[in-house]
Amino acid sequence: MIDVVLGLQWGDEGKGKIVDVLTPQYDVVARFQGGPNAGHSLEFGGQKHVLNTIPSGIFHQHTINIIGNGVVIDPVTLKKEIEKVMASGVDPRHNLYISEKAHLIIPTHRLVDAASEAHKGEHKIGSTLRGISPTYQDKIGRSGLRIGDILTPQFKQKYETAVANHKQLLDRFNFTYNLAEHEPAFFEAVEFLKQFKIISSEYFINNLIAQGKKVLAEGAQGTLLDIDFGTYPFVTSSNTITGGVCSGLGVAPQKINKVYGIFKAYCTRVGSGPFPTELHDAVGEQLRQQGFEFGATTGRPRRTGWLDLPTLKYAIMLNGVTDLICTKSDVLSGFEQVPVCDAYQIEGTRVTDIPYNFNDAPIQPLYSSFKGWSEDLTGIRKYEDLPENFKAYMQYVEEQVGLKMSVISIGPDREQTIVR
Ligand code: GDP
Ligand code: IMO
Ligand code: MG
Repeated sequence: MIDVVLGLQWGDEGKGKIVDVLTPQYDVVARFQGGPNAGHSLEFGGQKHVLNTIPSGIFHQHTINIIGNGVVIDPVTLKKEIEKVMASGVDPRHNLYISEKAHLIIPTHRLVDAASEAHKGEHKIGSTLRGISPTYQDKIGRSGLRIGDILTPQFKQKYETAVANHKQLLDRFNFTYNLAEHEPAFFEAVEFLKQFKIISSEYFINNLIAQGKKVLAEGAQGTLLDIDFGTYPFVTSSNTITGGVCSGLGVAPQKINKVYGIFKAYCTRVGSGPFPTELHDAVGEQLRQQGFEFGATTGRPRRTGWLDLPTLKYAIMLNGVTDLICTKSDVLSGFEQVPVCDAYQIEGTRVTDIPYNFNDAPIQPLYSSFKGWSEDLTGIRKYEDLPENFKAYMQYVEEQVGLKMSVISIGPDREQTIVR
C-alpha cells in the first residue's frame, strides 16, 4: 500500500516536516512530481535542513528514498543538495534511488524560464526560475532528456539538439545569456549522478509494495498550484494532487490508501495569482514575521492571509483526503481575532465553489471571526492542553470540511507535533 502526503494550499504547508515525522512508519519515501522549485524544510536536533529534490525521508538511513519518474531533476542543484546532506553525516549513495525516466533540467531550460518570465513583464507567473515549465514543456512536447539518457552514448547529441531548440527560443525573446558559464558545472554534475542508483523505479516500487513494504509518496507544491485545478495560469507545471501519484510513480490507484492533506492554519502564497483572503496591512505583516514566511527556495517574502475554506474544501475533494494535518498553528498566537473565510461574495452572490473566473472576479471574502488566544503553543504536546479559543477555531474548521485533524503541528521541530 502507498500513503500520500500533499499540500492543500499554494505550497509551503510544511510537507517536509510532516514527511520527516511520518517516515519512521514507512520503508520508502518517494517524490512523484515537481523539482527544485520545491523547498522542504526539516528541523531536528537544533538543525534546519532544506531539501529541493531529495525526498524528506533521507535523514533516516534505513529508509529507501526514491525520486520518481514524475519529477524533473536539475543535476547541478541535486549534486549540491546531496553534498549538503553528506556534510550532515548521511550518505545518500546508500538510500537514494533515481528513476531513469525522470526528466532532466538542462541549463538552457533555466534560461528559457528566465526569458519567458521577463517577456511576460507584469503578467509574470512569479516562477522560481528553476527551469520547471520549460522542462515539462519538453516532456509533453516529446523532446525532453531523461536521467537514463546520461548513461547512453547519444547523450551529448540529444543535449545539443535540445540546446539548439532552446537557443531559437532565447533569440526570439531577445534574451542575452552566456551558456558557457553554466555548462561545465552541468556536465560535472551529470558525471557525479552516475554513481547513484538509476533505476526503473516503477518496477522497484511495485515490487516493494508486493513485498508488503510501506511507501509514503511526498508531494511538492500544493493543490492550488496544480496544472489542471490550480489558479491557472498562476500554477506550476505538474499534477500536484493525489492523481499525480499514479503517473508520477507508476502505481495503480487501488494501491493508494491514506491521503494526508496538509494545510497551514492561515494561507500564504509566493508568486503571482489570486489570493482572496490576502492581507495587505499590518496584520498580514505580523503573520509574515511570526510565521517567518520567506521562501525556502528563493527567500522571497510570502504573501499572507486568513484561512480560506472554499479552496480548502475544493482541495480535500480533489485529493480524497483521509487525514487532515494543520501546521503552523503556533503562529496564530497573539492575534485579537482570527477570521476564517466561509464563502465569497461575487457581484452580490454568495459563492462557495471555486468559479472559473477566479483570477479576475471581484471576490469579497465572507468571514466568521474567532476570538484569538495569546498562549505560546510551541511547548504543548497534548491536544487537551491547547487553548480553548484555538480548539474552537479548529473545531469549526473540522465541522466545515467534514474531517477531524489527525495531526496538529505547533513548531518547526520534529518534536513539536501533536498526534491525535
Ligand atoms: P514545505 O514546502 O511544505 O515543505 O514547507 P516549507 O519548508 O517551504 O515551509 C514551511 C516552513 O514552516 C519551514 O520553515 C518549516 O520549518 C516551518 N514549519 C513547519 N511546520 C511548522 C509549525 O508547525 N510551526 C512553525 N512555526 N513553523 C513550521
Ligand atoms: P513547495 O514544494 C510555494 C510557485 C511559484 C510560482 C508558481 C510557478 O516548497 O511547497 P514554477 O517555478 O513551479 O514554475 O513556479 O508556483 N511555486 C511554489 N510556491 N511552494 C513551492 O513548493 C512552489 N513551487 C512553485 O512561486 O508562483
Ligand atoms: Mg516549500
